[in-house]
Amino acid sequence: MSEDLHIAVGDRQTRYSSLIPQIEALITGESDLIANLANVASALKYGMDFFWVGFYLVKEEELVLGPFQGSPACTRIALGKGVCGTCWKEKRTLIVDDVDAFPGHIACSSLSRSEITVPIYNAEKKIVAILDVDSDQLHDFTEVDQIHLEDLAHKLTPLF
Ligand code: SME
Repeated sequence: MSEDLHIAVGDRQTRYSSLIPQIEALITGESDLIANLANVASALKYGMDFFWVGFYLVKEEELVLGPFQGSPACTRIALGKGVCGTCWKEKRTLIVDDVDAFPGHIACSSLSRSEITVPIYNAEKKIVAILDVDSDQLHDFTEVDQIHLEDLAHKLTPLF
């Protein structure tokens, strides 16, 4: 398929509804995990105009930076550390309205102000990665982001 994205104009709900089927098409027919996660990160970054989008992959006892779009980020995060490690430990999506108010937040960019992290499961219901999206605005993520990013995470399960 063409890799060109059609970026819808409108609110986030409208943009997710247009983008997620395009992401599904983008990863259909490709079996390489890194290639697919790289395209998903790019599609989310440019399709939703996010500040930073990336995946942290579960490797042995820690999270290791995977494909991402944005400025360089910390490479390893322990279970329970930062927003990503807490998401992994607590096995749930976290929305952080103000990263400075989150105890233990790991600041990869001083411009990052709010954040959402979503666990990704494999077919055996084990968390295999964390999807991390950062914003340079406070209070930038809502239930709309949670619903659509969890839906996307669910669609990524077959990749693992
Ligand atoms: N802020 C994250 C670290 C990853 S960066 O945001 C890219 C955290 O606290 O886990």
